[in-house]
Amino acid sequence: MAIKIKMGSHSRILSVGSYRPKKLVMNSEIVDRIESSDEWIQQRTGIQSRRFAGDEESVVDMSCWAAQSAIERAGLTAADIDTVIVATITFPHQAPSASTAIIERLGNPTAAAFDLSAACAGFTYGIAMAHDFIFAGTSKNVLVIGVEKLSDFTDPDDRATAFIFADGAGAVVIGQSETPGIGPVAWGSDALNRDAITMDPPWTLMRNAEQKSVAGIDWPNISQEGQKVFRWAVYAVSKAALEAIEQAGLTVNDIDVFIPHQANMRIIETMVKEMKLPATTVIADDVRINGNTSAASIPLAMDILLTDRPELHGKTALIIGYGAGLVYAGQVVELPPKP
Ligand SMILES: CC(C)(COP(=O)(O)OP(=O)(O)OC[C@H]1O[C@@H](n2cnc3c(N)ncnc32)[C@H](O)[C@@H]1OP(=O)(O)O)[C@@H](O)C(=O)NCCC(=O)NCCS
Repeated sequence: MAIKIKMGSHSRILSVGSYRPKKLVMNSEIVDRIESSDEWIQQRTGIQSRRFAGDEESVVDMSCWAAQSAIERAGLTAADIDTVIVATITFPHQAPSASTAIIERLGNPTAAAFDLSAACAGFTYGIAMAHDFIFAGTSKNVLVIGVEKLSDFTDPDDRATAFIFADGAGAVVIGQSETPGIGPVAWGSDALNRDAITMDPPWTLMRNAEQKSVAGIDWPNISQEGQKVFRWAVYAVSKAALEAIEQAGLTVNDIDVFIPHQANMRIIETMVKEMKLPATTVIADDVRINGNTSAASIPLAMDILLTDRPELHGKTALIIGYGAGLVYAGQVVELPPKP
């Protein structure tokens, strides 16, 4: 007996929504503990402020608020979503997943749902999967959420990370389309350098309180080798970004908007030069006011760009995420239409 397969269709981003935590934290509020200054942080990263989520703003809370906005803007209800992908590295439960807590809260507790661990590349990994699910006919409407509460896993005394990481959530609905709205993904890794960004020690080492005090084991906060990450992002990730453009059959001159992972303004500006993007390309710079929110940074930056500049709805954008692993994924997308 031959198995019968019905193929799906092209896909596109139908809508975007986001949630920014209430508490705005300026550089001046964090510099004393790391012997730094507002000037040093701005000069090295462009970051002026970030948002930290409070107790009443959990990973699930922030995700649901971002998702509700995206679903409403797509003209859909939660019941129309058949698949939910949640990219995060800061949901504090190994199981059950954040995605199942989110679909229960959204009122659609039977959708397919799973969490995805690809750090700051999680959102663009999720977009690639959502596209493939729709193309293969597996799903019709996929909700992709990028969410982080990095303040729970950042040491406020660490000079290498305390001024970088932040909290927030962004979501998109990916649906069927008659024409291609999401290009082929350019993705990969440099796993030989996976120690460049880590969250250590593993939970298993924390189990034993005695072991903890003997070995001086602390909470698993993020640490990073800043210069190694910087070099990799600028050269390897820029190359991947150009591949994503080529795979979509386009050139840099066709890219209206560049929304890279909001890691650091200096990385973004160097990537723009490395890729030779034309001066007319609009460059997302949400990292300046929102810090680095890992998996949430691209949809947060996309949402604020479309709010501030509605003429960008429907334009051609290049998105690319990169981070711990070291992993990356990028694709050309058509920005969602005006809701
Ligand atoms: C983190 C980063 C800003 C640090 O900048 P850097 O120039 O590499 O900093 P270095 O660690 O080499 O230190 C340079 C100097 O600044 C000082 N310094 C380090 N951290 C500091 C801080 N937070 N505040 C003030 N001074 C600091 C160092 O002591 C050193 O001083 P010295 O020259 O007198 O010895 C930079 O490496 C970077 O942006 N990396 C990419 C990180 C990133 O985006 N990660 C997320 C990817 S998803």
